Amino acid sequence: MKINLLNELETEHFGAVLWAVLPKQCLVFLNGDLGAGKTTITRGVLRAAGHMSAVKSPTYTLVEEYDLASGKFFHFDLYRLKDPEELEWIGIQDYLAQPSPCFIEWPDLGKGYLPMPDIELTLTTEGEGRIIKINVLSDKLEKEVQHHLKNNDILL
Ligand SMILES: Nc1ncnc2c1ncn2[C@@H]1O[C@H](COP(=O)(O)OP(=O)(O)OP(=O)(O)O)[C@@H](O)[C@H]1O
Ligand SMILES: [Mg+2]
Repeated sequence: MKINLLNELETEHFGAVLWAVLPKQCLVFLNGDLGAGKTTITRGVLRAAGHMSAVKSPTYTLVEEYDLASGKFFHFDLYRLKDPEELEWIGIQDYLAQPSPCFIEWPDLGKGYLPMPDIELTLTTEGEGRIIKINVLSDKLEKEVQHHLKNNDILL
């Protein structure tokens, strides 16, 4: 499934739709080049979840933790990861075991240390905007996501 996101606002709005369909515990992979919009989606999710202050890119810290009304939320950026084994050292399994969403930018850099995600999102640049490819790997979520997107919740 592919969707056009014409501007930053649409990317954030996509994040809000995602928040509406995600289960309490989930793993989301965010693929795409530098500046593709991975953090923008995450910001959209966090805004929809009620987090109104800044959303920092965890490029240097590897992970940013949010305390939402619904519980914790973990945002990873593996861009600076030198060795996927570093994920073991930071206790990735403990993060993934929590009843929280885990959003991971640059998941390919953690290959071998990450399980299969529930949703994989891939952003590419198209003219001034972006295209997002949505791959739902969790059967449970597939119907829910399809339903929301078919109902044009994604349109502004
Ligand atoms: N649909 C869109 N159309 C045009 N510009 C967009 C769109 N969505 C986001 N942007 C812009 O693209 C940039 C994306 O930045 P963002 O930090 O989200 O990228 P990123 O994929 O997280 O990059 P990095 O790999 O460096 O972390 C921002 O300047 C944002 O305003
Ligand atoms: Mg980013």
